Amino acid sequence: MIVTIDGPAGSGKSTTAKRAAARLGYVYLDTGAMYRAVALGFLRVGASATPTGAEAVLPSLEVDVQHQDDTMQVFLGDEAVTDRIRTAEVGRIVSDISTLAPVREYMVEQQRRIGRAQADRHGGVVLDGRDTGTVVFPEAPVKIFLVADIDERARRRLQEYEAAGEEVTLEEVRTEIEERDRQDRTRDIAPLRRADDAIIFDTTDCTIREQVDFVADRVKAQNARGT
Ligand code: DC
Repeated sequence: MIVTIDGPAGSGKSTTAKRAAARLGYVYLDTGAMYRAVALGFLRVGASATPTGAEAVLPSLEVDVQHQDDTMQVFLGDEAVTDRIRTAEVGRIVSDISTLAPVREYMVEQQRRIGRAQADRHGGVVLDGRDTGTVVFPEAPVKIFLVADIDERARRRLQEYEAAGEEVTLEEVRTEIEERDRQDRTRDIAPLRRADDAIIFDTTDCTIREQVDFVADRVKAQNARGT
């Protein structure tokens, strides 16, 4: 079973996907974390978010994930970078990096490989991102597109930054995610959009439990149909 959850920044994808995967006994694959690891790779060598930068960085850059219990660790080469990718600095550059064709080709290939392997091993995988239902697994039997009010999304993202010890204001976070959404929706390759067969779910006034119930119910209904 492949479940895709796409949507804009702060719509609740990661929390929902992670907990739904745990509830269902599936594996969670955070594709945004993989793009963030690539962005960190660019930052580390001071490469620009351009095709020339990608040519210089990608041949020696390896992004992979490992699953331990219910958590997903992201690796840049041999280094676990799971915490280091959650900074405002990475947040500012990742959307630019994710517009680059060679970056997307590499990511989609890795995500398909990891997703299929994990689904075979554990019975299912829940992916979250921007294009997981449109590009990575367009054949996924359960596709969800999460949305939420911009103020609520900014509040959620601010809490994440504060937990990571970053000093940013709500207004800065709001501007950052608005700009990121605009870029993610308007890029030429694999823009953020709802797959035609994805179900929209608005999380603005929802508890996490309601979000997880929604996904789990969809999966159970699909499994009951025997596909
Ligand atoms: O989900 P997130 O905020 O951690 O994602 C970071 C960025 O990565 C997001 O701005 C766009 C990019 N991304 C993407 O282009 N495609 C995906 N499937 C996931 C993320």
